[in-house]
Amino acid sequence: MAAPAIHPLLVRITHWTNAATVMVMIASGWQIYNASPILPFRFPEALTLGGWLGGALLWHFAAMWVLALNFTVLIGYGLLSGRYRRKLWPIRPREILADVASALRGRLAHADPSHYNAVQKLLYAGVLGLIGLIMLSGLAIWKPVQLQGLTALFGGFQGARLVHFLAMAGIVGSILIHVAMALLVPRTIRAMVTGR
Ligand code: HEM
Repeated sequence: MAAPAIHPLLVRITHWTNAATVMVMIASGWQIYNASPILPFRFPEALTLGGWLGGALLWHFAAMWVLALNFTVLIGYGLLSGRYRRKLWPIRPREILADVASALRGRLAHADPSHYNAVQKLLYAGVLGLIGLIMLSGLAIWKPVQLQGLTALFGGFQGARLVHFLAMAGIVGSILIHVAMALLVPRTIRAMVTGR
């Protein structure tokens, strides 16, 4: 009998849907930000999506539904199937330090592709948490009157905008590290495409 897939089909579909949707959210979000920056800089036009504020909002709101639906399936499956308990847990600070040290020496082990190292566990759990936070702060910005309680949790509308921006920055940083690591070990990308 064939060995079970490293990444079940549902994980692969939701991973790539999530990746594509997050990219659309970020690029359109940067266009929206450029219309009214909260920090003293704008994102380069070439990296944005939508062409202008109205166009970017349409992209952002359309992709938002895909992200929310896909993320619910992805997280629901990860939690209920025990995948996250098996693959992303426990996250031990001592193991993270040891793995960062071996990575810096170019000696991080990749012998077993079905096992995540401590840095991967932290990065994946962290980025999933940040996506949850960015969705909640996004809801607070989208419906600040209807969801007053939620908006107040973020310290008001401007606070929610700042949290939304910082969560985006964390997600972009995680993606840069994540994609660089994946490109360094291309067979992990094959496993995330074919399952094996
Ligand atoms: C082109 C962009 C991307 C590539 C090439 C990529 C590649 C990969 C690969 C190869 C793995 C499996 C790692 C391994 O088996 O060692 C993985 C897992 C994962 N990726 Fe990505 N990824 C991309 C974008 C993203 C984005 C945008 C996010 C979230 C913002 C993300 C979140 C995750 C998570 C949470 C896992 C763990 C999934 C699980 O095991 O349940 N990835 N990615």
